[in-house]
Amino acid sequence: MHILSLRLHDFRSYRQVLLSPPQGVTVFVGENGAGKTNLLEAVHLCCLGRSHRTSADKEMIREGQETAAVQVKVQREDGVDDVGVRLYAPTAHKRKLLYINGKTASRTGELMGHVTCVMFSPEDLDIVRGAPQGRRRFLDMLLSQCGKGYFYALQQYNSALKQRNALLHDIAHGASSATLPAWDEQLCAAAAPVVKARQYAAQALSGYAGGHYAHIGGRAEETFSLRYQGHLSESVKPAEDLHALLQQSRAEDIRRMTTTVGPHRDDLLLTLSGRDMRAFASQGQMRTAVLSMRLAELDMLKDRSGEAPLLLLDDVLSELDGGRRTRLLERIAGVQTLLTCTDLSDLSGAQPAAILRVQNGEITEARP
Ligand SMILES: Nc1ncnc2c1ncn2[C@@H]1O[C@H](COP(=O)(O)OP(=O)(O)OP(=O)(O)O)[C@@H](O)[C@H]1O
Ligand SMILES: [Mg+2]
Repeated sequence: MHILSLRLHDFRSYRQVLLSPPQGVTVFVGENGAGKTNLLEAVHLCCLGRSHRTSADKEMIREGQETAAVQVKVQREDGVDDVGVRLYAPTAHKRKLLYINGKTASRTGELMGHVTCVMFSPEDLDIVRGAPQGRRRFLDMLLSQCGKGYFYALQQYNSALKQRNALLHDIAHGASSATLPAWDEQLCAAAAPVVKARQYAAQALSGYAGGHYAHIGGRAEETFSLRYQGHLSESVKPAEDLHALLQQSRAEDIRRMTTTVGPHRDDLLLTLSGRDMRAFASQGQMRTAVLSMRLAELDMLKDRSGEAPLLLLDDVLSELDGGRRTRLLERIAGVQTLLTCTDLSDLSGAQPAAILRVQNGEITEARP
């Protein structure tokens, strides 16, 4: 797919923007704080109904304004898709509005799969070196964009988990445990589709990401792979297996007032040549690993819908060596990409389809 138009209204630092980036790579160049990431964030908001960097929607409304709006229109192989999001300041007492092809949608899940994107941002390094939660979020965002089924399954699991945890808390304080088996059932039923999707995703990701790492890294001795880790990562019958685990951990769960087993504890093990990356990998190796995971995400979304999603690369070039930069840019040929940088020399001589300068809230054509 490619963007026909991107509109922003009172979004972050922008009063009004209308862009029609060409197919291929568009580079946004500008100083720190110029508003480059804001543009990518607007696209991400239309794809997933949320920002990639904040959960507080009000931060995205231009200072002093009551409402902000973004709209992306894309050309797909089977027609045009047009999605938009309108945000309101808390003082307006209105809920966020989602538009899909001219109609309002009531649930965020409805957005999934219309305009899809893969975003790489500097904070992504935490996917490798940070807590398991970041790696679960990576999987969840990817699988949600593959189809709204996963998004709703995960919502169901999280809601059953919350209810079960609340009940465990009550039981620990003397309430009856009579309804616990019913919540166990709900949790197990909700866990099954989540676990199966993650098993499939981890395997597919590992294959694709390994290939990208080999190409971009350019070192034959380094092999990158990724493995699903969790109580049910190898399970063929996740609902039944979780049920058994919940029986075993019941006393412990009541004592700790929380559910100690299940996919909410899942993780991905990332290894370089068989060693856990968290412990020893360099900054550049971690960055290459995350980038490979993002490109693998792109492959999976492409497998799912038959066409490549939009690629958003925020500040990706600055910490890669020249060879890696060039090989990355080779790798993304044919995918519409919005790429930000602070210095055009970071492009290592590559010829993007367009270069736009971001300055003082304005976006203007810039040719080197
Ligand atoms: N709600 C808002 N209203 C007005 N301005 C905002 C709002 N949110 C952020 N900004 C402004 O947007 C700018 C940051 O934009 P952005 O993060 O896109 O910069 P950037 O070009 O990506 O910078 P860097 O190169 O450092 O990553 C800051 O100047 C900030 O003050
Ligand atoms: Mg930025």
